[in-house]
Amino acid sequence: MAEKVLVTGGAGYIGSHTVLELLEAGYSPVVIDNFHNAIRGGGSMPESLRRVQELTGRSVEFEEMDILDQAALQCLFKKIMKAHGVKNLVFSSSATVYGNPQYLPLDEAHPTGGCTNPYGKSKFFIEEMIRDLCQADKAWNAVLLRYFNPIGAHASGCIGEDPQGIPNNLMPYVSQVAIGRREALNVFGNDYDTEDGTGVRDYIHVVDLAKGHIAALRKLKEQCGCRIYNLGTGTGYSVLQMVRAMEKASGKKIPYKVVARREGDVAACYANPSLALKELGWTAALGLDRMCEDLWRWQKQNPSGFSTQA
Ligand code: UD1
Repeated sequence: MAEKVLVTGGAGYIGSHTVLELLEAGYSPVVIDNFHNAIRGGGSMPESLRRVQELTGRSVEFEEMDILDQAALQCLFKKIMKAHGVKNLVFSSSATVYGNPQYLPLDEAHPTGGCTNPYGKSKFFIEEMIRDLCQADKAWNAVLLRYFNPIGAHASGCIGEDPQGIPNNLMPYVSQVAIGRREALNVFGNDYDTEDGTGVRDYIHVVDLAKGHIAALRKLKEQCGCRIYNLGTGTGYSVLQMVRAMEKASGKKIPYKVVARREGDVAACYANPSLALKELGWTAALGLDRMCEDLWRWQKQNPSGFSTQA
């Protein structure tokens, strides 16, 4: 019987791509999501997962649930995870736990905790709790994945990132400018200590990132204790380089204006991804052109994301 994997937040951008990779790797994902940032499809399914089912020809178990609802979560565990002693965990962390980089590229030994924003702090606190848990109880195994900046979409163009409201992150905003949904990109500062003055990040294809989770699940099988890995490409690109890459992929001009820096932003952030290669056998395979081409295909096929109204 296929191994069950509980995926929290599995209807979202990273979640839906990961569920697809799990299905293709022969796992049987069970997804919970509270629709905080997901669109309903027909019936009880989120639209993203309805499409994942269509793409893979396999079915996904889904329950609408808030992960803070302890009673519901316990009930789910009883129902579908007959073995109650699940002590293997993959945690979605973020490169933002490194705070302002003291050196680059960032390896996993770089100090954490000096976070420049509350989101990063919450990831840092949870990492610390999981580390303590694994230290205190050797029956636990956990892989903490520090995501760099996931972008792009599944090659089918059927699933992708669909932020509600005005996108906070760079590439969803850029692609909405390319499709004509927004007038111009605001570039948050061009006076950073980088090649062209704009912020530099390690953008990684979301499908590569999703595959990183499969590698992490395999690692858990080794009774690995608590392990931490960067999921990045090792290459940083500036905001303006990203704009040009998206112009190339879309064939559209992307107007921008330079505005003030955004509070909490760092100048540059990119990974040393060699530990994941060494210990997980995982490395990012898809480059910048593919990321932008796939993002554009998703945007073009779904000008208003998962919702049907234009
Ligand atoms: C942001 C979050 C980070 C989170 C990550 C998830 C902040 C301060 N950081 O990281 O906690 O883990 O998203 O993907 O919110 N930019 C513009 N114009 C825009 C948007 C972004 O110029 O409209 C620039 C930013 O200044 C930055 C780069 O583009 O240099 C990337 O920004 P973004 O996509 O928001 O990612 P991060 O800031 O790395």
